[in-house]
Amino acid sequence: MPVIQVEHLVKEFNVVQKESGLKGAFKNILKSNKLLVRAVNDISFSLEEGEIVGYIGPNGAGKSTTIKMMCGILQPTSGSVIINGMSPYVDRKKVVKNLGVVFGQRTQLYWDLRLGESFELLKRIYEIDNDKYHHNFAMLDEILNLQEIINTPVRQLSLGQRMRGDLAAAMLHSPPVIFLDEPTIGLDVDVKYAIRKFIKDINQNCKTTIILTTHDLDDIQQLCKRIIIINKGKIVEDGSLNQLIDRLAPTKKLIVDFFEE
Ligand SMILES: Nc1ncnc2c1ncn2[C@@H]1O[C@H](COP(=O)(O)OP(=O)(O)O)[C@@H](O)[C@H]1O
Ligand SMILES: [Mg+2]
Repeated sequence: MPVIQVEHLVKEFNVVQKESGLKGAFKNILKSNKLLVRAVNDISFSLEEGEIVGYIGPNGAGKSTTIKMMCGILQPTSGSVIINGMSPYVDRKKVVKNLGVVFGQRTQLYWDLRLGESFELLKRIYEIDNDKYHHNFAMLDEILNLQEIINTPVRQLSLGQRMRGDLAAAMLHSPPVIFLDEPTIGLDVDVKYAIRKFIKDINQNCKTTIILTTHDLDDIQQLCKRIIIINKGKIVEDGSLNQLIDRLAPTKKLIVDFFEE
């Protein structure tokens, strides 16, 4: 049975169009121009346990909206998401325990607390017992070097440090499924490398099922065997990365290294 099953998922937003200028301001009061936007337009896919899938597409394609519906933040207009047999919107509390989510553009950490205090709070929220917490923290610390930032208030962390904290926060309760929405955005090469290693490690060691949204082609090449491409709310490709490369760029470059014996 697939871990994630998305069927005919649709999300529409009502967007109010406002006119600018003084004349526009009067018009806006008298009549609001509502426009219905279909951010996600009939999307279906499924993921097996342990898959890492790259969910890619241009800005505004509907990636974040899909992820928000998959973790129960947004209610679908129609269609369904099923994760481990449950709906994230209906069975939110149960599903959240099986889910980790990172939005690169927005931290889930508590701005005014030290990173360690944020973790303690999450430990209580997710009801993680002591043994599991210490085990998971040690594993995450090894990959993400958390000790050096654990006593720093979240607001003082650099973007890269904050992202390490966010990734750890999403994994403290060892969820079998994680969604990473642009986790490497704006980061320098070293941190990107550490995050890629983190994603690879948890996927291999914990069989974590991962959906990764990114604009970074290296992330995709290093991590994803399968990619789903979305444009204007619709899936335009879903398949193996290698097959896609073969189809779209059939000429290959052969690099040969010569060495002396
Ligand atoms: N809360 C919202 N209200 C109105 N429109 C939204 C909202 N969230 C997203 N949209 C619109 O939906 C479309 C898809 O957005 P999004 O899912 O954030 O794209 P992506 O993550 O692929 O860049 C965009 O046109 C965006 O403006
Ligand atoms: Mg987005």
